[in-house]
Amino acid sequence: MSKYVFTIHHFYSKWRIICFKTQRLTPTSLWWLWSCNSHSGAELVLQLNEQKGAPNNQVTKRCKKERSSCQPVLDCFDQQYSQELGDLWADARAVLLDPHSWQYGVMLNCFSVVTDITQILQSQGFCALLPQTDVSMLLCNGPSTVSNSKYQAGKDSLLPPHYISKCPPNDSHLQPDSASHALGQDLQSEPSLSLPRPSLQCYIHPYPLRFPSQAHRPGQLKQYYLLNAASLLPVLALQVRDGEKVLDLCSAPGGKALAMMQCATPALLCCNEPDLHRRDWLAKTLESFLPHSLNSRVIVSAKDGRSFGQSAAGTYDKVLVDAPCSNDRSWLYSSSQQGEQRLQERARLPALQAQLLKSALSAVRPGGVVVYSTCTLSSCENYAVVETVLNDCPEAEPEDLWEEIAVPLSKYFAFSPAHPDHGQTLHKPSPQPQNGTVSTYHHRLGILVVPQFGKTWGPMFLSRIRRRK
Ligand SMILES: C[S@@+](CC[C@H](N)C(=O)[O-])C[C@H]1O[C@@H](n2cnc3c(N)ncnc32)[C@H](O)[C@@H]1O
Repeated sequence: MSKYVFTIHHFYSKWRIICFKTQRLTPTSLWWLWSCNSHSGAELVLQLNEQKGAPNNQVTKRCKKERSSCQPVLDCFDQQYSQELGDLWADARAVLLDPHSWQYGVMLNCFSVVTDITQILQSQGFCALLPQTDVSMLLCNGPSTVSNSKYQAGKDSLLPPHYISKCPPNDSHLQPDSASHALGQDLQSEPSLSLPRPSLQCYIHPYPLRFPSQAHRPGQLKQYYLLNAASLLPVLALQVRDGEKVLDLCSAPGGKALAMMQCATPALLCCNEPDLHRRDWLAKTLESFLPHSLNSRVIVSAKDGRSFGQSAAGTYDKVLVDAPCSNDRSWLYSSSQQGEQRLQERARLPALQAQLLKSALSAVRPGGVVVYSTCTLSSCENYAVVETVLNDCPEAEPEDLWEEIAVPLSKYFAFSPAHPDHGQTLHKPSPQPQNGTVSTYHHRLGILVVPQFGKTWGPMFLSRIRRRK
């Protein structure tokens, strides 16, 4: 069945390219062109005219470009992942080697005042990954409750009238009665601050359709951010609440920082990034998506994450360590020289990752939570790093994410059985989570999203660790 779905994806992608190459605008290619290029009916006409007159425009180029994989990297992955993932590697390999099969998530920006995007997405067959009920269950029913949060729910509606009047009836996060935005002490002392209630919404499509990225428009916040939907899982696991102090230790380009700001209004979100170029990128992301009124609570810092914990011991309620890693999806498309170099550096990553995770555990207050994540399938950078740090830090307590994240979201994501070398499984469980069949012990070190046909999200590993009180 999954292979069948994949074949349809593949056929559809190729057919779409043919439409562009022949310049024949069938109803569906018209629709796709529109989805690639425009945000309104008026813009649609303009974009189509440009498309006809300019065969080498950006969209055509993107479709024509075929990327070739890097053989040394592929050989290395084959050797390691066929052992670690068993049968799952064949499908994961095929997905990673076929960018036409990749799905893209569209995370809405709740701070943007333009409201037609939900209808456009729905009319194109996108559906909500996280219906509001599921999000609130994920965020509220988990074991994490921060008792010292400064935030207390209030009833003031701080949405400006022009914002409320633009709300479509089915856009629940923009409704006047759900728009009451309760603020902590800091926010209440800022009378000019007017924000919608944060609401994490991500739309996904069953087929590998790429919604167009949005150009910068001066004076307007961007409406959505394109991402691999598995990137949201570490943010969900972090369970950011209003009024908390949060550290994003490895932050650029800022996708997860944005997602956190869609979940809640923290008292402080410190986005740390030591690389100058990537820090600029991060700053641009934050500027394009967040209103000025949040400037005082979303700050950028430039420290080496390994020493962050020493200088800010016990300061934060929550810390995300989205660590530098092998990044399987992008490494596979390295040039051969770059690929060889990356493979040499790969051996040094677990030590760096463990240092970052330990630093995060110092930066978090007793009782606070650290989420560690990577976008590699490599168990040396995932389970092994967590295991090393747990062995060295008696105050660190791993929390099981299987029931909280993997079970409710298994409809969309393929989660791997844990790696047997890391104390995760005594016997091989089903690759897909089933309620009540897997003991909590099996996944205590973390959960892994493996790209599969029809569920091409990932790779993404996530682990949640609480600092004991
Ligand atoms: C996987 S990326 C983070 C992606 C980001 N969280 C997001 O969602 O957009 C890892 C980041 O860690 C940064 N990094 C590398 N070494 C670091 C260190 N020693 N301390 C902190 N960050 C570091 C890299 O420059 C890179 O931007």
